[in-house]
Amino acid sequence: MSPQVPRHSLYSLTDSSDCGPEKEEEEEPSRRLTPLENLTLDMCHNENTIKELTVGRRVGFYKVRGEIGCGNFSKVKLAFHALTKDKVAIKVLDKLRLDLQTQRMLSREISSMESLFHPNVVRLYEVVETPSRLYLVLEYAGGGDLHSRITSQGKISEPESKIVFAQILSAVKHMHDNNIIHRDLKAENVLFSCNACVKVADFGFSTRVSTNNQMLDTFCGSPPYAAPELFKDESYMGPPVDVWAMGVLLFFMVTGTMPFRADTVPRLRRCVLEGAYVLPIWVSAPCQRLIQGILKPEPSERYALDQMLGCEWLLPVEFFRPVPPTYRLNPMHLLESGPGRLNQEEEEVRVALQELGVTEEHILNNQSKNSRSPVTGIYRIILHRMQRNKGTERAPMITGVVKDPKRDSLRAYRNLRHTSKLCVLS
Ligand code: ADE
Repeated sequence: MSPQVPRHSLYSLTDSSDCGPEKEEEEEPSRRLTPLENLTLDMCHNENTIKELTVGRRVGFYKVRGEIGCGNFSKVKLAFHALTKDKVAIKVLDKLRLDLQTQRMLSREISSMESLFHPNVVRLYEVVETPSRLYLVLEYAGGGDLHSRITSQGKISEPESKIVFAQILSAVKHMHDNNIIHRDLKAENVLFSCNACVKVADFGFSTRVSTNNQMLDTFCGSPPYAAPELFKDESYMGPPVDVWAMGVLLFFMVTGTMPFRADTVPRLRRCVLEGAYVLPIWVSAPCQRLIQGILKPEPSERYALDQMLGCEWLLPVEFFRPVPPTYRLNPMHLLESGPGRLNQEEEEVRVALQELGVTEEHILNNQSKNSRSPVTGIYRIILHRMQRNKGTERAPMITGVVKDPKRDSLRAYRNLRHTSKLCVLS
């Protein structure tokens, strides 16, 4: 006989089946509990599990392990999903230490991440809230960050830099296409997930604009990556500020040093406003031209992302990939699509959810909760794993030698336009 399942749980998934199966199930004593029912039962009754939940060794459905990073107001911990067993990174914030400004930034971080869905942007799987803490459950990128890589191993070769930079560029284009400005692009916020596959992280300073030429007025980000207009205490446009930071990043990648260096912020400010930097002569001419096009003091003269995408240095990189539509971040579309209308991947996700015990009722009751739901968490983790297994997250490749930069550049532009359209429609 299956165990009696109690009705009340801290981790209720639906209004009607709080902690495992309800009435009908009780009338069917031989039915085996689903993994989800077992887990909720465990979280209600197992003394060890309850203790782990109380002391923070477990958060929602996640088993928390050691610390893997820390910031001003947060710690990042490694964790595992108790049902799917996938590794995740959990950003832990102590709500009681957050002032109003930080709370505002945090809700922007969540809302920015919720509107992005790109292979080179760290995914937000779930948000868990307790009376004292907020936990952002994120995709785990276990290869360290770009800053540590360069400071420990030195500059990155140009072919490898192309592959990394193309991914950052693709991610930032996706952000700007969705009216999100990152405002803290720097090597520390570029994480490696597999060999040369990178993810842009940390949307704590990000903001949503109504149009990309909306003026902003908060100084954000890290001074060595800050554009000259940020040091002028004037309002500024978002996209060129991200572009400038990418120029600093590219300089750092190919030379292993920063273009603007000083031991105090006022000196650094002077350096950036003077706009003088020295590019080593061994940096290839196409790369030099790209850096010079980006690090233009006047924002209106600075390269736009589309110019960067069509530049000679990046021509040999095959990096255009379709971006999935964001509605797929919510499991509701599995039900809305109706039977027989899901593609193969969606069908696999639906079956995997069913096997874990996530029912249609769970998904329906989850409708308006976005990231603040364990059902969304399970769904996004499984969807992402399936996409990774299908190879959609491979790093781009250098596919060919450029024979005629002018002609190839035009061709790249055509590809770009085409791909952008595809992204919108798919
Ligand atoms: N450190 C900060 N965020 C991280 C993540 N998403 N994965 C791995 N380490 C991290």
